[in-house]
This record gives sequence, structure tokens and C-alpha cells, in this order.
Amino acid sequence: MSKAYEIVDHEYDVIVVGAGGAGLRATFGLSIKGLKTACITKVFPTRSHTVAAQGGISAALGNMGKDDWRWHFYDTVKGADWLGDQDAIEYMCREAMPSVIELEHYGVPFSRTETGHIYQRPFGGMTTEYGEGPPAHRTCAAADRTGHAILHTLYQQSLKNQAEFFVEYFALDLIRDLDGKISGVMAWNLDDGKIHRFKAQMVIIATGGYGRCYFSCTGAHTQTGDGNAMVLRAGLPLQDMEFIQFHPTGIYGAGALITEGVRGEGGYLTNSEGERFMERYAPHAKDLASRDVVSRSMTIEMNEGRGCGESKDFIHLHIEHLEPEVIAKRLPGISETAKIFAGVDVSREPIPVLPTVHYNMGGIPTNYMGEAVQPIKDNPDVVIPGLMAVGEAACVSVHGANRLGSNSLLDLVVFGRSAADRCAKVVTAGAKQQSLPKDSGDSVLDWLDARRHSKGTTSTAELRGEMQRTMQAHCAVFRTEQLMAEGVAKMASIWSRMNDIKVSDSGMIWNSDLVETLELDNLMAQALVSIHGALERKESRGGHAREDYPDRDDENWMKHSVAWLNDDGTSRFEFRPVHNYTLSDDVEAVPPKARVY
Ligand code: SIN
Repeated sequence: MSKAYEIVDHEYDVIVVGAGGAGLRATFGLSIKGLKTACITKVFPTRSHTVAAQGGISAALGNMGKDDWRWHFYDTVKGADWLGDQDAIEYMCREAMPSVIELEHYGVPFSRTETGHIYQRPFGGMTTEYGEGPPAHRTCAAADRTGHAILHTLYQQSLKNQAEFFVEYFALDLIRDLDGKISGVMAWNLDDGKIHRFKAQMVIIATGGYGRCYFSCTGAHTQTGDGNAMVLRAGLPLQDMEFIQFHPTGIYGAGALITEGVRGEGGYLTNSEGERFMERYAPHAKDLASRDVVSRSMTIEMNEGRGCGESKDFIHLHIEHLEPEVIAKRLPGISETAKIFAGVDVSREPIPVLPTVHYNMGGIPTNYMGEAVQPIKDNPDVVIPGLMAVGEAACVSVHGANRLGSNSLLDLVVFGRSAADRCAKVVTAGAKQQSLPKDSGDSVLDWLDARRHSKGTTSTAELRGEMQRTMQAHCAVFRTEQLMAEGVAKMASIWSRMNDIKVSDSGMIWNSDLVETLELDNLMAQALVSIHGALERKESRGGHAREDYPDRDDENWMKHSVAWLNDDGTSRFEFRPVHNYTLSDDVEAVPPKARVY
């Protein structure tokens, strides 16, 4: 079957898959280091989802009040509900300041203070004095379009450094050589329909999250976690997939993001009684508690009948009280979004919002240098030769069980850069590479062919909708054994129907029907390991809130879940210890304690 496809061969030192913030930072970092690098991306780089990040990027610059990277470290460990690896968190928080200054020098048009410094706003869970002081002004912002500003700058830097791009190429699968090393990627050029085989010493996955497993999601429709699914298909594991972040303020009905920066600038939430209910749930941090806490509080308000509107199924977010100049200068983007998607004039009326899927804490397990790892026998950190991961696709794990807002843009640039630095050490520019096995890529072409000519009875959109509604109903903010067990059974049946899919277009040029079907395959694999992982973890921690196990259980569950997807659609689990140690003596590891805001 696969012989019918014309294959174009390439050889590079490093292949980066994905051109969001992490992929671009890695790509041009590698070019600077003199490694022959290609970046493969299914969308034009500046259309990657990083463009939609609004509120900002965290770094303890202290431009608008005292700050310290150690406080940032403490907040992140606590925000992660003690599932984050503290060595990696130390690395990220310490590297935050030089990384943001580097972005400034690259040309990111940050908003400015009166004195010309980078403007910084408060964000959820970011505090001073190890949680004892007032909120930290730590999130560096370019109005409410920070991701847009950063993504465009990183793309400009990539062009300046002669990075090579393969744009609108859909990555199909990883290639493994005879020793099991990852040695390349197969991709489909959507424009002319040809298949490309990229050989490389190192493959870096930077394909982002898989939010589109869910019905209501702040992420782009392209957020299908293609790299994570390639890893599962290669027989490798993903980590902590049960931890899915619901952003408190997605627009009701549309799912579009309203930045946490709104609450950082003084916005607040109310229920149908006009009550600022967050004062009850988080007396100290209130509306600026961490996202999991705010999302749960909103859900409780709605479940107990204090939601707004006829069906009591949303919450009000207010900024009518803010000065018009503040809205115009700091929040111009969300004013427009609220008008378009909710028909609301934010200067006069509240925005209807509800918790919406926003971020995946889980992904490809890596160390802080970006190398993919897996547990083998007694060693939990065995490096997978030839494979790295960065950004939302990776689980470093700096976000543990819950990510703090504005730590994601930071993660992208810090670990995109550290992966490039690591490659400069372990990859030799121009080194002769082994020939690939003759049949390499054949199995993926068989898969492509089967989907392409699939003439079943269920359309891709129909099956995707069923998966999304199942995940939304059975693996959301609050979870129980019964609810998830039902979800697992439904997902098994939905998964089995992939073989009954109907693809009506069998062409190879701009075949969006086929692209969406392959993306659905990718989403399905991740949805399965996520809901299986959620059922497996019998405790509540961060974004994983079980009504039947309401407490965090450090004795039995302070460990990363590592999941392999079996051929029959079930999952196999192992566990890796959390790194409860730091890299240096400059900061002390934070021992677990009750997490209150
Ligand atoms: C936001 O602006 O609220 C989103 C940014 C983030 O998720 O870090």
C-alpha cells in the first residue's frame, strides 16, 4: 500500500516539530549553535496557539515592587500542589529574569511603567514573602496580547538566524532506527500531497497541548497534541495526563479566553446574588487564588443554584468599575473579544464566564534540559535516545498538578532555550547518520492509507463531538469513580468506532477531512490515557478534584503517573517519584503542607 506514495528524503541534525513559542525558541537557538535544523509545522508559525496567550509571562524582575525568584519558586511549588519537580522549578524561576530581558532585547514590545521598565501585573497564586506578603506584580505584559507579541518576535528571530521551515506539513509519526533510537519524522506536505521523511540525530516535539479532547476549550481547533500521540504510537509513555486545567474565565458558550490579567487589573467575579463569593473560598487571595481553586469555587456556586442566567450556568466577571483608560491601555483585546463573543460592552456590563479547558499539565516526561525520559526497571529517569520535548507537549514537570497563570509563556522560552543548549552538547553538527531501515515509515503510511480510504458510516465531526462531550461530562472539574468509570466505557466504545469512520475526500492536497481524521486519532489516544489516569489516581490534587477522595494523599500519591496506551485502547501505568529536591543551595525545597490561598 505504502509504495503508492512518493517519498522525499531529508537529513538534518535536529528536527523541531511545532512552531509555537517553545518550538521557535528551540529552532533559532539551534540555528545559532550551528546545528542544521528544520522546523516542521502544520500551521504558519505566527498562527500557532501561543499567539492567543493574553495576560503575560512571569519573571521576578521586581519592576513594580519588591520581588525575588525564590518567592516565585515557592508559589510555583505550591501552585503545582507538590507534584512539580522542584529542580526544574528552580531552573525555570531562576532563568525567568534573563529570559524575559532577552525577549525584550529581541524586540518584544512590552507595556511600560512610567519609568520605562517592563510593566508587570498581579496574577493568580503569585505572591511575595513565600505566600505571606501581598500579591506579587510579576507577570510581564504587552497589554493583553503578550503571546502575540512574543510569538511574532520569536519568528522574526528565527528568520534572522536563517532557521529552515517546512510550513503546512502535517507530522505523521516518529521513525525509530534498528536500535530503537528516535531517528526522524514522517510528514505530509498538505500543499502538494507528497510524503517527506526527515532523518535527524534529535527530534524535539513542540506540538502543544490537546485541549480539543474537550467540547469547551480556550485553545485553537489545531490543539490536537499530535506529538504526544506520536509518542504513544511509538510505544513510549506520557506523564500526569489526568491533570487538565480549567481556566476560570472562558466566555460562556464560546469558550474564548478572557485573561486572568482582568482580575490582576482589579476585575472580580460574582454569583447570581451579586456576591463576591471568592472571599469565602480564598479569604486571602480572593479572585487571585490559583486557577483550580477559582474554577472549583465557581462550579460549586453554579451547582448550588447561585449561577447567573436562567439556567444558573455561568458566573459574572466585572470590570465596569475600572477606569476607561485602564481598560483601553491594559485590556484592549478582551474588550473586543467580549463584544464579539458575548455581545457585552465591558465598560457597562459583566462578562458571562465559566471554567473552560485551557491547559494540559501532562505530556511527554522530560528532564529540565528537555530530554524525554521514561522509567525502566529501577531507574525512573532513563533518557530516550533521540527524543526531546518542550512547551505544553512536555511534562518537565514544572506545573505539577496545576499551572499558575503566566508560567506557560515562561516555560516555553526557558525550556525552548535549554533544549537548544542541550542539543549543542549532545548533537554533533553534520555527523554522519546511520541509514534508516528500508521499511521505516511504512507502518505510518499504512495507517494514513487506511484512514484516507475509510468508507465507514460515522463522520469525523460526529465521532469527535461524541468524544468531546464524553470528556466534558465525565472528566471535568469534579470527578467521581462512577462518573469516570462510565466515561471510560463510553470512550472505549467511541474509540472502537474509529474503524467505522467515513472520510469522504481521498485526495492528498489540502484534504482537511483527512487531516481532521488523523487529528481525531491523535486526540482519542490522549483522551483515553487522560480519563484512565484520572480514574487511576485516588486522591484530589491540583486540577484533579475527586469528590470521593477529597483530600490530597501525599503518602500514596505524591508521584507522577506514567501511561502507555495498549493496542486494545486500555492503558498501562507506572509511576515516577516527584523530585523533591533543588538543583542548588540557593533555595530550599518546599516540604508539602496544606494548600490555602
Ligand atoms: C491568561 O492570560 O489568563 C492566560 C495566560 C496563561 O494561561 O498563562
